[in-house]
Amino acid sequence: TPSSFMKPFIGAIDQGTSSTRFILFDKNGDTLLSHQVPLTQHYPHSGWVEHDGKEILDSVNICIEKVMQEFYEKNYGTKEDIKAVGITNQRETTIAWDKNTNAPLNNAIVWCDTRTSDLVGYFTNKAKKLIKNSTTAVATTTKLEDGANNNELEPKNYLRDKCGLPFSTYFSAVKLKWLFDNCKQVKEAHEKGDCKVGTIDSWLAWNLSGGKLHITDVTNASRTMLMNLHTCKWDKELTDFFEVPIDVLPEIKSSSEAYGTIQGGPLDGVPLASILGDQQAAMVGQMCFEKSQAKNTYGTGCFLLYNTGEKIVPSRNGLLTTVCYQLGPKAPVIYALEGGVAVAGSGVQWLIKNMGIASSSKEIEDLAHSVKDTGGMYFVPAFSGLFAPYWREDARGVMVGLNHHTNKAHLALSVLESTCYQTYEVLEAMQKDSGDKLIELRVDGGMAKNNLMLQIQSDILGLPVLKPTNLETTCFGAAFAAGMAVGVWKESMEFKTGMKFTPQLDENTKLKKIKGWHKAISKSINWIDLEEEQED
Ligand code: G3P
Repeated sequence: TPSSFMKPFIGAIDQGTSSTRFILFDKNGDTLLSHQVPLTQHYPHSGWVEHDGKEILDSVNICIEKVMQEFYEKNYGTKEDIKAVGITNQRETTIAWDKNTNAPLNNAIVWCDTRTSDLVGYFTNKAKKLIKNSTTAVATTTKLEDGANNNELEPKNYLRDKCGLPFSTYFSAVKLKWLFDNCKQVKEAHEKGDCKVGTIDSWLAWNLSGGKLHITDVTNASRTMLMNLHTCKWDKELTDFFEVPIDVLPEIKSSSEAYGTIQGGPLDGVPLASILGDQQAAMVGQMCFEKSQAKNTYGTGCFLLYNTGEKIVPSRNGLLTTVCYQLGPKAPVIYALEGGVAVAGSGVQWLIKNMGIASSSKEIEDLAHSVKDTGGMYFVPAFSGLFAPYWREDARGVMVGLNHHTNKAHLALSVLESTCYQTYEVLEAMQKDSGDKLIELRVDGGMAKNNLMLQIQSDILGLPVLKPTNLETTCFGAAFAAGMAVGVWKESMEFKTGMKFTPQLDENTKLKKIKGWHKAISKSINWIDLEEEQED
């Protein structure tokens, strides 16, 4: 009944890779209403992944309309009871638009799109030359604390000290360079001074504010390779390196402040008060506000973040250094180490859509449950190369260890296991970088509905895995940051454990399985000859 919810309410838009949702939360953090719309994935060429900016916007508007319609039908309150709305979004995905017509100038290039692998080669070579010719190269201006990091001097890590990230198709800078090189409309609009660009948060903030706000937040900006991690400002040296204009970029704001108000539609006049990349929002939603707290979100990909407080911790083990959140313009910037795996839930979707072995994720879980193990089979879903901790553009998916007995149930199980092995590798790297041992892992995201996968995860990690009562942590994180900006919430809330998975596998079997995984990984690496591809 309406009376069991506590006013006021806060809304959050979660624009993810596979779907968009809008959720209204009450003062206790309980979900009042929610609506979700799937998003079309466009794969125009091998390795290309695109989203239609117009469809993204329509999906957001539909979600808001549906929720608000129900809000009034159920007599939950008036628009004035909704104190603020936050945005959380798939990160890195890059779009350009015309500031006069508000029309997208291209389909958004999605984070897992690999069309820029030749550009990654180009920039890596550029860095190689700069390292050779210069003693004042960006990568060598600041030495790491222990002064002994060879990794930092590798060409792919040339800018890492400044922006926390290695060269990869994943981040926005190369996508932007591709747009300016290959998209006539983008170039022309820029020449006329009409071009705006941004990640999906910027695209939404622009449209929701009726073209008044061209902004992003520190977390999203930290995924572009164009923001200096130390100053949290765009950096001319970085934009020059990537040969992209600086004047088209949005203004960088904190993750929690009243930026402006929504213009038009059912939420007209409601303050827009938070922006957070989806993985960072999940950190906030999981209440990981203390140093050394970590969470893993199993969505399209899966992303493990570890709070390092106000300290920028450079990774020596293939992780990313990123902004975790800044809860207010005057609040300190909190950083994180992150390990991202490109394919998690999308591996399950691939089994359903491309292989047709089941018609739902639940069926995949049931299939996987029907066998006791994979019979020695491994599946490495390196569809977009391998992300953390390998960062190999030249890796592609492989299935190994097949025999006469192998069937679709083994395949289903091996896909679930692949997410768990990849998370294990990220966690190992994180423990090495931070010098800390994790005692438990908080998890969330759509794929965390799969209890079999979470049990396997706990077995492979040898750690308890905690699933919260409310799995909508990403959305709640954005709502929480928005609520903080308008004074609805002041301090962190309690983390409520819904289910706890504890390790059941003996150490020997675990080590044997991990050894097999490493062998499988070695088969997936070096699959593509990038130089040959460049010549084609
Ligand atoms: O970095 C990409 C990430 O933000 C996408 O998240 O949940 O849409 O897989 P998700």
